[in-house]
Amino acid sequence: MIGLIFGPPGSGKGTQAARIHSELDLAHLSTGEILRAEAARRSELGLEAARLMKEGHLVPDRLLVPIIRARLQERRGRTRGVLLDGFPRTVEQARALDAMLAKDGRRVDFVVALEAPDELLVKRLLHRAAVEHRPDDTEAAIQERMKEYHQRTAPVLEHYRGAGVPVAEIDAAGSPDEVFARVHDALQPLTVGK
Ligand code: AP5
Ligand code: MG
Repeated sequence: MIGLIFGPPGSGKGTQAARIHSELDLAHLSTGEILRAEAARRSELGLEAARLMKEGHLVPDRLLVPIIRARLQERRGRTRGVLLDGFPRTVEQARALDAMLAKDGRRVDFVVALEAPDELLVKRLLHRAAVEHRPDDTEAAIQERMKEYHQRTAPVLEHYRGAGVPVAEIDAAGSPDEVFARVHDALQPLTVGK
């Protein structure tokens, strides 16, 4: 099973993915986490990505697509499926993902789309900035991440709706528990028997 957890910066993709992981035995693959780990070990890819991430820009598709291809290959058969967090983030990435899954007769099975007003999300990220010091949690980088999301990432949702993939739109305001209750209810009919 291949699921996507989708949504703007700060909408709770990582927070909810951790819970879906425990509930459904779907491995959590976050491209943001993978890139931050590459940056921490100062690989060539990590250093190039870190420069862009710090400004809130997207990292080029040519760097992301091979990473996802390798990780999906590695995970095959080891868990019930994979929940992708932060990928695909452009329609080009979505097409690349669809093509790599189609080779094995697979497809994206569901999308969980978290939604909340930008003002709330900015507040959450600035709150995290005070606690965790992620390099892209500055006011300027957050604005840029929001802009990239609305311009380049939001159209990915239309891509999957158009392809007939079930998209569960979830109100991401409220406590993490409240949001997870909504996610859980929405996933129930999509995952039973899979
Ligand atoms: P990525 O790491 O994916 O960051 P993001 O999309 O900006 O989202 P965040 O991780 O900040 O938020 P989230 O939605 O996961 O929410 P979280 O649970 O953490 O990507 C970072 C960068 O990497 C990109 O900008 C880009 O440069 C690059 N990149 C990654 N993938 C790429 C790709 N495919 N292509 C190109 N570039 C790519 O929660 C946020 C905060 O809110 C936390 O402090 C959390 O504790 C809190 N919180 C969560 N839920 C709630 C709640 N319900 N109520 C109150 N607080 C909450
Ligand atoms: Mg995240």
